[in-house]
Amino acid sequence: MARKRAAVLISGRGSNMVALIEAAKAADYPAEIAVVISNDPQAKGLEYAQAQRIPTAVVDHKPFGKNREAFERALQAELEKQNIEIVALAGFMRLLTSWFVSQWDGRMINIHPALLPAFKGLDTHARALAEGATVHGATVHFVVPEMDSGPIIAQGSVPVLQGYTEAALAARVLKIEHRIYPLSLKLVAEDRVRIAGGICIIDGVAQPKGVQISDA
Ligand code: GRF
Repeated sequence: MARKRAAVLISGRGSNMVALIEAAKAADYPAEIAVVISNDPQAKGLEYAQAQRIPTAVVDHKPFGKNREAFERALQAELEKQNIEIVALAGFMRLLTSWFVSQWDGRMINIHPALLPAFKGLDTHARALAEGATVHGATVHFVVPEMDSGPIIAQGSVPVLQGYTEAALAARVLKIEHRIYPLSLKLVAEDRVRIAGGICIIDGVAQPKGVQISDA
């Protein structure tokens, strides 16, 4: 099967982008990272992608001001220029309009650092600690117009141990993010995930919370 052309969209350090780039080096990985796009010209992740000789592009949101659709049309043009088939958001810190989301219906995935539907939004690790969660983790899901929602492809859970600081918990979750994101992109690129009734059907099995892995 031809490898699917995937774009990774970042805004910052890009450790999930690195995990995807590294996974895609395997000859049998079903996707290639065809472009890395950042909305921030200073994003650290761009340097890594460039060093790997992966095409990069910056679509800076600032010149567009409040005109989100104009920014997204520029983004869409970059994606079309590279004949992208799957978009992977990896710490991409822009809210997306329903117009953009509809361009990538069932073909755009995101990673969120919590076990959705718990802890949507920001500061997930601090909130999990404050609420006394005993299990926390990360989720990869298809993007829908509502933020941090959408059919779940995979989740990775970690125990919240006594005395964990926010940084310690974040580091532990990040490690499992780096496992579930390459796994999820692989499943999507292999066309093994269908969406029906708002949930993912993976290889013929309806899984309300996707593939579950744990780092117990
Ligand atoms: C990750 O925690 C991811 O779950 C969230 O943003 C962070 C990005 O980190 N969406 P990185 O840039 O991939 O290192």
